[in-house]
Amino acid sequence: MNAIAIDGPAASGKSTVGYRVGRRLGFVFFDTGVMYRAVAWAVLEQGINSADDEAVGRLAEQLRIEVDAPASDLSDGRQATILVGQADVTWEIRSTRVDSIVSVVAANARVRRELTRKQRGVGLAYGSGAAGKAGVVMVGRDVGTVLLPEAPLKIYLQAPLEERARRRLRELVERGREADFNKILEDMRVRDRTDSHRAVAPLRPAEDAVQIQTLGLTVEEVVEQILALTTARLGVTPSSPDE
Ligand code: CDP
Repeated sequence: MNAIAIDGPAASGKSTVGYRVGRRLGFVFFDTGVMYRAVAWAVLEQGINSADDEAVGRLAEQLRIEVDAPASDLSDGRQATILVGQADVTWEIRSTRVDSIVSVVAANARVRRELTRKQRGVGLAYGSGAAGKAGVVMVGRDVGTVLLPEAPLKIYLQAPLEERARRRLRELVERGREADFNKILEDMRVRDRTDSHRAVAPLRPAEDAVQIQTLGLTVEEVVEQILALTTARLGVTPSSPDE
């Protein structure tokens, strides 16, 4: 199977790196976090208490979440277009309001059961070539451990909390958002703790994951390391960076 699993804590570079790895290999890139964010967005939108397991679980089972390739005339930096029903929530799911409840929503067993089923289906379809794609790069928290344990290459990205908070601050500022470093840092600390300590599918490296410490490395250096591992493990050769 042509599947690469990339996991790691908040803002460790999973989506930036994973997207570029996917492009160089002609693999589909799929960010599983957007689906948890979409459920969290809907929880806020419908005024549901995020701690109400029953109501949140029911919502996740009913929600129509679509993850599409962006329309070709869109150039606002999106990697995918995320729809909840008819609403384009691509940027709204990145709000600090969503950040503050998404980990609680993602710890809900019914939410996980629903999204795991869908995401594993996507991974198997693209990973096996059945969907007419060369392979898949899936990024998240539990791709190597739960979603695609059979993936032939698993990566776990790491970076110190302060560095990750700096990266997230830079992203938000680039998008013209107001952001406070200390609040980002504190929210990230809480989210990492919730993600690592939940009962179902906690954030942790798979036993056979290659761990990459990204502090001091450029995005391109991390991408090249993963591509070298891909060639070794999957026998797939990437295109050159400017193609
Ligand atoms: O971009 P960032 O790393 O900040 O977050 P994300 O990857 O968009 O994920 C948002 C949240 O969704 C995480 O903090 C987890 O609580 C949850 N998540 C998860 O539980 N399992 C996944 N496979 C992906 C995300």
